[in-house]
Amino acid sequence: PAYKHILIEKKGEVGNVGLITLNRPKALNALCDALMQEVQQALEDFDSDPSIGAIVLTGSEKAFAAGADIKDMQNKGFIDCFGGNFLSTSWDSVSKVKKPTIAAVNGYALGGGCEVAMMCDIILAGEKAKFGQPEIIIGTIPGAGGTQRLVKAIGKSRAMQMCLTGDMITAQQANAWGLVSSVHPPDQLLDEAIRLGEKISQHSKVIVAMCKESVNNSFELPLSEGLHFEKRLFHCTFATKDRREGMTAFVEKRKPNFTDS
Ligand code: HXC
Repeated sequence: PAYKHILIEKKGEVGNVGLITLNRPKALNALCDALMQEVQQALEDFDSDPSIGAIVLTGSEKAFAAGADIKDMQNKGFIDCFGGNFLSTSWDSVSKVKKPTIAAVNGYALGGGCEVAMMCDIILAGEKAKFGQPEIIIGTIPGAGGTQRLVKAIGKSRAMQMCLTGDMITAQQANAWGLVSSVHPPDQLLDEAIRLGEKISQHSKVIVAMCKESVNNSFELPLSEGLHFEKRLFHCTFATKDRREGMTAFVEKRKPNFTDS
């Protein structure tokens, strides 16, 4: 499909990493409805493309995304939001992808931008990245996980402080607090994210999806249920050819040849 606000590419040596670049530079990648609908479509396409093993989401050097589109929201009323289920379906789709998603954040990840990054499975940051939940400054609150996922990522005191002050944190702080996995020079960040995507893509796609689902369940389930679910999925891996291939390859001292089956 022809997109207006995003760019789509296949990256990596064998083209197995899907790349989505938010591309609305004049608005610092503010996440208007049309942009998020395009992101949803691109994610669904990569998710169902058998050649893709991981998906990278990025923005520009200046901004990953400066939030939901404030100009779109300015004149909305409660009924518009509630009735239209504002910021729901397309936003939620980011966390529903089965394949691993990696956010490569250079520049601002604010409000909805920080929330979309947190919907991804892994966040890598450029040295100049800034994260924040500034909604409070414009008279609202985070609406797509900023009061929930952020707490789980960095703990209550730090999340509370960020949400209540609206202050931004640096990439270095985000790294120290565990919001991101690592920090890189801005011009190397995207390559680093793609390399990570390639590494994940070497593994069996079906097993990778099970692993992702199980880790994500740790956020939803009490420990005993989460452990039970994990055990059952572990058992399920024994229903695949790739589990047998992986262990046989180890025993035969060779590389596995996964068939995603
Ligand atoms: C619409 C935005 C925008 C946004 C920036 N722009 N952020 N437009 N929605 N969230 C536009 C500006 O209006 C401006 O357009 C252009 O992008 C460049 O921005 P400047 O402010 O001139 O750039 P700069 O001075 O470098 O400042 C960068 C900035 C600042 C610090 C990131 O733009 C800023 O504070 N933005 C808002 C951040 C924010 O509050 N985000 C949370 C939104 S609420 P013009 O046309 O004037 O040149 C949210 C709710 C989440 O996300 C709910 C989730 C479901």
